[in-house]
Amino acid sequence: MAPKNHDKVNPLWGGRFAASADNLMQIINASIDVDKQMAAEDIAGSIAHVTMLGSVGILSKAEAEKIQTGLEQILQEIESGTFEFTAEKEDIHMHVEARLGELIGPLAGKLHTARSRNDQVATDFRLWLRSALEQQVRGIKDLQRQLLIRAEEHADTIMPGLTHLQTAQPVTFGHHLLAFVEMLDRDAGRFKDACARLNECPLGSAALAGTAFAIDREQTAKSLGFKRPMANSMDAVSSRDFALEALSAASICAVHLSRLADEMVYWTSTAVGFASFSDRFSTGSSIMPQKRNPDAAELVRAKTGRVAGAFQSLLIVLKGLPLAYSKDMQEDKEPVFDAMHTLALCVQVMTALVGDIQMHRDKMQAAAGGGFATATDLADWLVREAGKTFREAHHISGSIVRLGEEKTCDLDQLSLQDMQGYEPKITARVFDVLSPQNSVKSRTSYGGTAPAQVELQIQNWKKRL
Ligand code: ARG
Repeated sequence: MAPKNHDKVNPLWGGRFAASADNLMQIINASIDVDKQMAAEDIAGSIAHVTMLGSVGILSKAEAEKIQTGLEQILQEIESGTFEFTAEKEDIHMHVEARLGELIGPLAGKLHTARSRNDQVATDFRLWLRSALEQQVRGIKDLQRQLLIRAEEHADTIMPGLTHLQTAQPVTFGHHLLAFVEMLDRDAGRFKDACARLNECPLGSAALAGTAFAIDREQTAKSLGFKRPMANSMDAVSSRDFALEALSAASICAVHLSRLADEMVYWTSTAVGFASFSDRFSTGSSIMPQKRNPDAAELVRAKTGRVAGAFQSLLIVLKGLPLAYSKDMQEDKEPVFDAMHTLALCVQVMTALVGDIQMHRDKMQAAAGGGFATATDLADWLVREAGKTFREAHHISGSIVRLGEEKTCDLDQLSLQDMQGYEPKITARVFDVLSPQNSVKSRTSYGGTAPAQVELQIQNWKKRL
């Protein structure tokens, strides 16, 4: 005889319990607020499972079909917003099964034959992440295309190239943007790698040991678009390295976005003035009427913290966990969902910002000529034309820079006599290399900043994207 009040214990696992859970137990145990995001994946997994149960004869075809119809109705209810979620039913798996019971009666109890929530949740999570990663790759492609459009427009726009944030050598803005196209391509590659590795199916591993029912794991794996069933049931229910890998790739991508975002903040700063955002992507100050703040870029820069934090969070959840499943693993989804949503938003915002930003060529060009940015060109010239070793040439060029500093003028404003005071072999031809235009034009080595090289790279990327 069931003890009194037994109707209050959990209907799905409460058989051996005499009393219902404490309210606090329920609060800490419930994951529905998070895992309802994978409702569609959960139902897809259940349909694959029940179809397989029907085709191997564990359930009759009619039973399997009836369960499937019920599941499809639940998906509709969830999508239309009429489905009721409550913390009492813990997670998405129990919500679906409970609702199935309301819709089709005791037959619903057969759905869970030969599976466990452990293989179920691992399957759902992989399905969710697979499409999230595919979405990231599409988003990154859009961003790359936008960068390419702007790179083409600015293939010969000259600006100061920096190291240590100090003027180093003139570069083209197109070249600068293409650097991000390259980084983003590796990001997309990492997402694709993660996607390929996670594409194996845990379903049918049951709680941890597999099942005594004669199930067909190949069938469920194939019908969910997985390459194959996972080969070890304990690994299948307890590994989350697929999520770690996705988060690590996401963290790296977020770091790349933050670097571009930071450059935007720098370029649009009042002191630098290389660029501005339109009103659509600028914000004002509540006190200083003149302000035009680059909030969107700053927020992209900041959200890196959330994405990288998610990676740390999951690493620490998993550290030291024994095989196989522990409830700790329920904490895996929130950081992953948040990181993927955050990154997708940041990629989209960056695409818009790259399209929006207006570059001020005159200012960039003027700055490119300042700061003795062609001092390396002078040294190179001394090697080529005056037979100096690079070390000697570096020293002479450095002395001429010091003279420029004293006279507060740039290298190309010094007189030939001034320069000959340091090296008599210098001729008037030196002026050919002292302008930022000529400096940039001369950097024709493969991958260099010369407009001709930049054009070449743009054409390559156009074919690839
Ligand atoms: N909500 C759980 C999770 O996200 C599902 C798996 C529950 N398994 C268990 N043995 N209690 O991990």
